[in-house]
Amino acid sequence: MKRNLILYLSLFFLAVIPLTSFSSEKSDQKSNLPSELYTPGPKPEPRINGPLVYGCRPGHPFLYRIPCQGERPISFSVKGLPSGLKLDASTGIISGIVPAKGDYELIIQAKNSKGKDIRKLKIVSGDKLALTPPMGYNHWYAHYDRITDQMMREAADVLINSGMADVGYQYVNIDDCWMNAPKNNDPKRVGPIRNAQGNIIPNSYFPDMKGLTDYIHAKGLKAGIYTSPGTLTCGGFAGAFKHEEQDARQFAAWGFDFLKYDWCSYGHIASGGSPEDKNIPTWGKGAPTLEGYQYPYKLMGDILKKLDRDVVFNLCQYGMGDVWKWGGGVGGHCWRTSGDLGFELDRIFDVALKNSEHREYSKPGEWNDPDYIQIGWIGNANNMGIPELTPMPANMQYAYMSLWCLMAAPLIYSGDMSKLDEFTLNVLCNPEVIEVNQDPLGECGLVIKKSDQTFLMVKNLVDGSKAVGLFNRGKSEAEVEVNWSELEISGKQTVRDLWRQKDLGKYQNKYAAQVPAQGVVMVKIGK
Ligand code: GAL
Repeated sequence: MKRNLILYLSLFFLAVIPLTSFSSEKSDQKSNLPSELYTPGPKPEPRINGPLVYGCRPGHPFLYRIPCQGERPISFSVKGLPSGLKLDASTGIISGIVPAKGDYELIIQAKNSKGKDIRKLKIVSGDKLALTPPMGYNHWYAHYDRITDQMMREAADVLINSGMADVGYQYVNIDDCWMNAPKNNDPKRVGPIRNAQGNIIPNSYFPDMKGLTDYIHAKGLKAGIYTSPGTLTCGGFAGAFKHEEQDARQFAAWGFDFLKYDWCSYGHIASGGSPEDKNIPTWGKGAPTLEGYQYPYKLMGDILKKLDRDVVFNLCQYGMGDVWKWGGGVGGHCWRTSGDLGFELDRIFDVALKNSEHREYSKPGEWNDPDYIQIGWIGNANNMGIPELTPMPANMQYAYMSLWCLMAAPLIYSGDMSKLDEFTLNVLCNPEVIEVNQDPLGECGLVIKKSDQTFLMVKNLVDGSKAVGLFNRGKSEAEVEVNWSELEISGKQTVRDLWRQKDLGKYQNKYAAQVPAQGVVMVKIGK
């Protein structure tokens, strides 16, 4: 049933998938590895990473683990910390209660036996969250309906131990299948949906939701959860229909900081199916109207704003009704712009180019979401398979990550955390590339000079410089050139290779690079 639903959704919402360059050949990732890993290993001295701005709401619980690379132990100190917040000097976790509305400029210092680093962070206490794209982990594409509390705890452990949290990954998000289902192959996921008070009951693999979020929070990380506005989720588990406020309050009481709200079976209600409740508007038979698309998200968005917790609101409805035009207006912080990327991993460049068409709607607190980063060990979305090492060519993985960073897309890794390898971490954990993603301007890159084989994507950064991706989608190496006139700049400009973290020198008029097949060269250009 759930597979059918997911398959149905993918067929319904996605274009026909052309044969791929890699899945048909079933190539071994190792044979595609570049002769060198792009990202240099972290240095022993501290390097503070993470966003320069952080949004939160007054009076709510505050939790922020300072992302910082370098040999531990590291000793942290912070100047300008408002009252109500305290720092744990050895873990770098800032916690407490969000101060009154206003901007608070912090100066963070990290010191170890090898050196020190200093970085600013502006806490913006107001009504906005997710001032930079959310970063974290989501279980879906590795564990599907096999997910357990234990696996989520392990994911949180690995986020810390692998160094991912040190470059900014912070959300640990449960996807579908944590609730009970009316029917399922696994009897341990079948049981009462709600208790006598109508409160949702997690299935037996999630015996203690509060214990789980406490575990995640103790590491300075945040926790995410998933449901649907319909009666059933896409996996056929219990949804929030007619229990929206009760469920949202339950999620907050459990301690969740992020909610993915997945359309799924709500389509039936929105197109005039029997909602069993005269108070729930229906929009006539057939495709929902714009109001029909918006209704459940506005309902939940309004509820989340009233909670005494900051909950980032992730709309998942595959781009219907041009969600990028109104997702922010209904309280969303990010919205999927297309169907499940798990079905289209061979079309990364196409998906990205389509997503970038909505660039004008990308801004701090409101992000276009082309779906998760699926590299390393991931399960086949068509059969919800056991994770296998992705056959995606190595250079394409660097291109994938570059595109998501240039587009200011949420950076949510969705592979098997227990099998993270050096190469996958090398793609996921380059702080200079991630800094482009987290840039406070929140711009989504603009595609310029596109040919069949190559294109440029340009993103303006807050310091006045530009990040430029020189992409080659072809199967052979190609020279790609960026002219200063195309960037509306002139004179001598410094060019820095962001993946290798290396200045390439000063260039007059243009920069050209040999870009590997299906790969990228990503540079920062500025005086
Ligand atoms: C899909 C959604 C996926 C995943 C799945 C769970 O609709 O796009 O990201 O959440 O449902 O069943």
